[in-house]
Amino acid sequence: MEANTGISITHLQGPALSASVDLLAFTVFGDPSKDATFKAVDVALGGVLSDIAKSESFEGKANQTLAVHTHGRITARRVLVLGAGAKNEFNNATIRDVVASTAQAANKAGAASVGFVMPAFAANREAMLAQMAAEGILLGTYKFGRYFTGEDHKRPMALKSFGVLTELKGKKPSAAQLKAFNTAVSRGTTIGAAINHARDLINEPAAVVTPTALAADAQAIAKRHKGTMTVTVLDAKKCADLGMGMFLAVGQGSDQEPRFIHMTYKPAKKAKKKVCFIGKGITFDSGGYSLKPSQAMEDMKVDMSGAAAVISAMDAIATLGSEYEVHAVAACCENLVSGRAYKLGDVLTSMDGTTVEINNTDAEGRLTLGDAITYARTKIQPDEMFDFATLTGACMVALGPYTAGVMSDNDQLVKSWMAVAERAGEDMWRLPLNNRLRDQLKSSVADMRNTGDRFGGAITAGLFLKTFAKDTPWVHVDIAGPASVSTAKPSQPKGGTGFAVASIVEYAAKS
Ligand code: BES
Ligand code: MN
Ligand code: ZN
Repeated sequence: MEANTGISITHLQGPALSASVDLLAFTVFGDPSKDATFKAVDVALGGVLSDIAKSESFEGKANQTLAVHTHGRITARRVLVLGAGAKNEFNNATIRDVVASTAQAANKAGAASVGFVMPAFAANREAMLAQMAAEGILLGTYKFGRYFTGEDHKRPMALKSFGVLTELKGKKPSAAQLKAFNTAVSRGTTIGAAINHARDLINEPAAVVTPTALAADAQAIAKRHKGTMTVTVLDAKKCADLGMGMFLAVGQGSDQEPRFIHMTYKPAKKAKKKVCFIGKGITFDSGGYSLKPSQAMEDMKVDMSGAAAVISAMDAIATLGSEYEVHAVAACCENLVSGRAYKLGDVLTSMDGTTVEINNTDAEGRLTLGDAITYARTKIQPDEMFDFATLTGACMVALGPYTAGVMSDNDQLVKSWMAVAERAGEDMWRLPLNNRLRDQLKSSVADMRNTGDRFGGAITAGLFLKTFAKDTPWVHVDIAGPASVSTAKPSQPKGGTGFAVASIVEYAAKS
C-alpha cells in the first residue's frame, strides 16, 4: 500500500505578503478586481497580477487558475490565484478541490512550502474549512503508482509543508483558535488517510485484494487499535454453520476462499447507541454465468468499494473516537465462472430462511449483502444499520456517475444521513423505495427471485435488501457511480475514490 504523504500542515502566522514560502496561494470568488487579497498582492507585485488576469481572461470562475513569478517583489517566489466561483455556491467539497489544486500546483512547480490564504467565512465554519483543507492536501497528492517502473514515478514529492493563513494580515490567533485549528487539521488528516487507504484497496488488482487480503487488512487495522477494536473473520465453514446460503453460493465458483469480516469498535464509556456499517465486498465481479461483456467487466475489481469504505472508515473512527459502539461488516468473495459456480435457476436459502431463485448471476451483490444484513440484524442487533454497495448500473443511469443513490423507508434516519453526507461533501440523492416495484421480484418457484426488470433497477435491488433488513432502521447507499471515476478532479484522481468514507466517519466519530 502507498505510504502516507508526510506533508506537515501548520497554521502560518504573520502577514501573507511577507510569508517566506515558495508558493503563496489564495482564492478569488468571481471578479478579481473586487477581491481584497487580490488587490493587496497585485499592488505588492506592481500591477502584474491584474495585467495577467486581463490577458488570460481570469475571472475567478471555478477551476480557473492564475500563476505568476514574483521576481523578488514579495518573499514568496510564486503566486497562485485560484478561481472559486460564486461565494454562495462554495461548499465543503469545493475547498477540498481548491486545496488539492494548490498542492498539485506546488508539486508541479517544485515548491516545497506553500502559504494558503484561507477564504473568510462565518466563524462557525472555520474548523470545517481547516479539516477539509487537510483532506484536500492528502486527497490531491494521492497517487496509485506502485506498478510503474519508470524513474519519474519514484521521485519524492516536492511539497513538504503546507501553511494555512487564516487571513491576509496575519492577526495572531488566540490559543483556543490555534487549538481548534490543529484539532480540525488532524481530523482531516485522519479522514484523508482513511480515504486514501480505501483507494489503495480499490485500485489494487483483484489478484492482490482477495477476500483473504481484505480480512488481513481489517485485522491489521484492529491491531493498531488494540484497546478499542476487535475483529472476527469467518471462513466458508463458519458461514455455512450460520446458514449464509446466498453469500456462499456467489463465492463458490472461485478458487479464492470467501471471508466474512466483522470489526467492532467499543468506546470506553457506555455507548450511546449501536451502529453497523455494511459494505459490499465482491473482489471481482465477472457476472458469473450471466457473464458481463469484456468492457463492462474491465473495471470490476472496484466491486469491493463498499467493503473498502467501511473497513477504512473504522480506522479513522477508532483514531478519532466515537460515542457509539460501531460495527463494520463485509461479506467478501469473488463472482466467477467454473464447474462449481452457482447457476441460473438455482434456488438459494438465505440466512433468514427466505428462498431465492436466481434469474441472473450478475445480481450477486444483493445476495451477499442480504446475508450480511441478516447477520448484522440478528447477531449485532444494531440500533441503525447502513449498507454501501456498488450495486447497480441502473443507479448510474438514474443519477449519473458522481452521485450515490440513497434508499430507506425510515425517513428520520435517512434525513440525518443526508445531512451528514452534505457536511462531508459527498454527493448523495434519495430514491424512492417504491413497494409497487416489488412485484418484479416474484418467483414461481421460490419466495423471491434476485432480479427484476430493467426499469427501476436500483430500486428493486433496494427492495430486495429491505427483505432482510426487516424492521431494523436501515439505509441503503448505492455507490456504483461515485466509487470510482474515469474523469479526474483535483481531489479525486482516476480510479477508486474512497467514496462514503468521509460520510461514515462524519456520522460516527466524535466531533
Ligand atoms: N457490480 C455490478 C454493478 C456495477 C456496475 C458497479 C457498474 C459498478 C459499475 C453489479 O453486481 C451488477 O452487475 N449489477 C447488475 C444488476 C442486474 C443484473 C440486475 C447491473 O447493474 O447490470
Ligand atoms: Mn454483478
Ligand atoms: Zn457486483
